[in-house]
Amino acid sequence: MSAGNPDYRDSGLVFPKGFTFGSATASYQVEGAAAEDGRLPSIWDTFSRTPGKVWDGDTGDVACDHYHRWESDLDLMAELGLDAYRFSIAWPRIVPTGTGEVNQAGLDFYSRLVDGLRERGIRPVATLYHWDLPQPLEDAGGWPVRATADAFERYAEIVGSALGDRIHTWTTLNEPWCSAYLGYGQGGHAPGRHEPAAALAAVHHLNLAHGRAVQALRATSTGSPEYSVTLNFHVPRGEGPDAAEAVRRVDALANRAFTGPMLKGAYPDDLIADTAAVTDWSFVREGDLTAIAQPIDVLGVNYYSTVTVRMWDGVSPRETHDGHKGAPEGTAWPGSSDVVEFLEQPGPHTSMGWNIAPEALEQLLGSLGEQLPGLPLMVTENGAAFDDAVTDDGRIRDEERTDFLRRHLTAAHRALAAGVDLRGYFVWSLLDNFEWGYGYAKRFGIVRVDFDSQERTVKDSGLWFRELAATGVLPR
Ligand code: FCB
Repeated sequence: MSAGNPDYRDSGLVFPKGFTFGSATASYQVEGAAAEDGRLPSIWDTFSRTPGKVWDGDTGDVACDHYHRWESDLDLMAELGLDAYRFSIAWPRIVPTGTGEVNQAGLDFYSRLVDGLRERGIRPVATLYHWDLPQPLEDAGGWPVRATADAFERYAEIVGSALGDRIHTWTTLNEPWCSAYLGYGQGGHAPGRHEPAAALAAVHHLNLAHGRAVQALRATSTGSPEYSVTLNFHVPRGEGPDAAEAVRRVDALANRAFTGPMLKGAYPDDLIADTAAVTDWSFVREGDLTAIAQPIDVLGVNYYSTVTVRMWDGVSPRETHDGHKGAPEGTAWPGSSDVVEFLEQPGPHTSMGWNIAPEALEQLLGSLGEQLPGLPLMVTENGAAFDDAVTDDGRIRDEERTDFLRRHLTAAHRALAAGVDLRGYFVWSLLDNFEWGYGYAKRFGIVRVDFDSQERTVKDSGLWFRELAATGVLPR
């Protein structure tokens, strides 16, 4: 059963009947129409306008113009035979000031999108928060303050009431690791702060927002949606004499800071101890952990690459290749930045500089399956940026991306064969889009977007993925 090819370049593997093949995008990365129909700025509008923060001064003002082209984009998804589409709802379209009036035009946009998906037989998988916090909420303190979680609960109630009759899967948050640590610690993501204690307060308020949102969505959804959250698990590999200690610290901050409260109802003791010099965690109030630990139906797993860590000897020049996005002005590792170092990863790499390690996806899915028995898993993002070339005949022969997808789908299949309850795989991304700090310089799509004409062209990897979705068999 299990794939035999040691380099994970398999074909002919048969995925189980009902396995979901989908694609993913996020509102700020594709929609554009930043000032239309009542949308107000998010932290990413502000950040992308701040000189030096985003490559070449790119913004999401127009992006893929998906806000206007959604119908033909849905037709494209139907042509690709996708079972499901993972998109995100822009909070600043729904409650533009964060706490004030509801903007019906924003709800109407997503209502049309959801109906359009269902008409085409594509299941809507909606994420409530993929990083576009309404700017007024940041002005009032952002995720480090509790009121942001209160505002999120209300926003969840609003979208639950409007769309909860038709959504297949609700996902509360996308990668809260990035929101908290890159946004408030390292500073490479909006809002670009470098405050280690604030980053940990953001972790907690994001966790709280998740739990409260699951409850609000459950109370308002009249259909029978599934509930989930998407985390970007780190797969640390250790080196040096205290390898296990370095791995433990990174695992605590990156993974267990979220899975602990969300799935087990407690913050790990070692996380609290590792960060004691940064914060006393007094922002955790009585009742919070019960509110956070809501049952969910499926856990979303985003995976791109690994990190290699070592305890720093305190003497040699410290290495900081943590592979994350944006210029590291601050640290994404509060409490551990002075003791752990991140080593350069051996290749091969994608054009993001991220190492390609499909075996780590197999390992991650296997270990989550063991740690969380009874909780189905879904790969909600996996994919690669490469520098695509359009040939004279207009084709994009993106063999490296197809190879990447093949190897990671082989890894996913190996996990399945080993008994992991993996339900599906969403490729990141449907379209080339606004890649955060890298602007439009990095292309992840299985469909090319010409950002001058907005023309879409299915890349060879997209044709390959279409065959996979149609047959359920890993193509040649
Ligand atoms: C993930 C994000 C997604 C995209 C990919 C490449 O961290 O969730 O929006 O930027 O990385």
